[in-house]
Amino acid sequence: MKELEQLDKVVDVLDDELNQVDDLNVLQQKKASYLGKKGIIAQVMANMKDLTIEARKELGMRSNKIKQILEERFEQKKQAIENAIIDQRLKNESLDVTLPGVQFPTGGIHPLNQTIMDLEDLYIGMGYKVAEGPEIETDEYCFEKLNLPKGHPARDMQDTFYINPELLLRSQTSPVQVRTMLEEQGKPIKIVCPGKVYRRDADDATHSHQFMQFEGLVLGKDISLADLKGALLEMARKMFDKDREIRLRPSFFPFTEPSVEVDVSCGMCGGKGCNTCKQSGWIEILGAGMVNDNVLRMCGYNPEEIQGFAFGIGIERITMLKYRIDDIRNFYTNDVRFLNQFKEVK
Ligand code: DAH
Repeated sequence: MKELEQLDKVVDVLDDELNQVDDLNVLQQKKASYLGKKGIIAQVMANMKDLTIEARKELGMRSNKIKQILEERFEQKKQAIENAIIDQRLKNESLDVTLPGVQFPTGGIHPLNQTIMDLEDLYIGMGYKVAEGPEIETDEYCFEKLNLPKGHPARDMQDTFYINPELLLRSQTSPVQVRTMLEEQGKPIKIVCPGKVYRRDADDATHSHQFMQFEGLVLGKDISLADLKGALLEMARKMFDKDREIRLRPSFFPFTEPSVEVDVSCGMCGGKGCNTCKQSGWIEILGAGMVNDNVLRMCGYNPEEIQGFAFGIGIERITMLKYRIDDIRNFYTNDVRFLNQFKEVK
């Protein structure tokens, strides 16, 4: 029967043809040309009516079998094409993990901010809160309530930028003490306050018309100079190294009584005396003292019940000492060659 022969050949022919196909659309068309309504199988079957019943039966069974085989062939080919597409896509997307990565330029933390963060960390760890105040301050808070009435000669210690007779650019962070005391109304206080200050100084290697301070204030029952020394010794050892010593020298500030200037033992010579410490073995780092009774009273505190200490650290000064920077202007000129040196500093 020639129909049977025709059918038997179909699979071989298809196998040859499928080898040429690598596109899903072409495959789809091919499938229609074999299995569709007008496809090859359908054409062979169209002549069935002229055959004997026996022959029809045989042809019917065979054609079903062939259809099944063709379906399988098409399905396999479809899978193969899809897999090849995925393979190709993966190959295009593949990532060579041994290639060096693309480097993105990164910034670093400015050394002055690093110092502030280190100090805040230390004092927060000791139970202090961070307080802030405005850079445009009143004369009353910056001076009068700190025991520096108008015309007081100690005002000359800080040459100040005035906006008008009552308003100024703060020359110290000490007015934040005043603000905090007025807010807390007699309650104990434990704060530190970092911030910018301004003075009418000509800029040179050790002076800047704008710099930063880090103020501390602790008020409570039975706070003494020994507590102050403890708080500052911790600071010196954290900021410099664990073997540092500090010493307190009598000094004068209108807002503290007694007042002290605090020196740290020289890290260059270990206290023996060298050029950095001018042969003294000590380097001055900050001013401090017990809060003056007048200040306490003016800010609503009763010195009979509550007292405490205050200190004011120069951020630039201790940063310069720590990293051995010899010109304060380096902090403000934003030369990346200078700043890049601090990228890794922690
Ligand atoms: N405000 C002082 C200054 O700028 C520094 C200072 C000294 C702050 C003694 C204090 C202090 O709180 O008790 O020179």
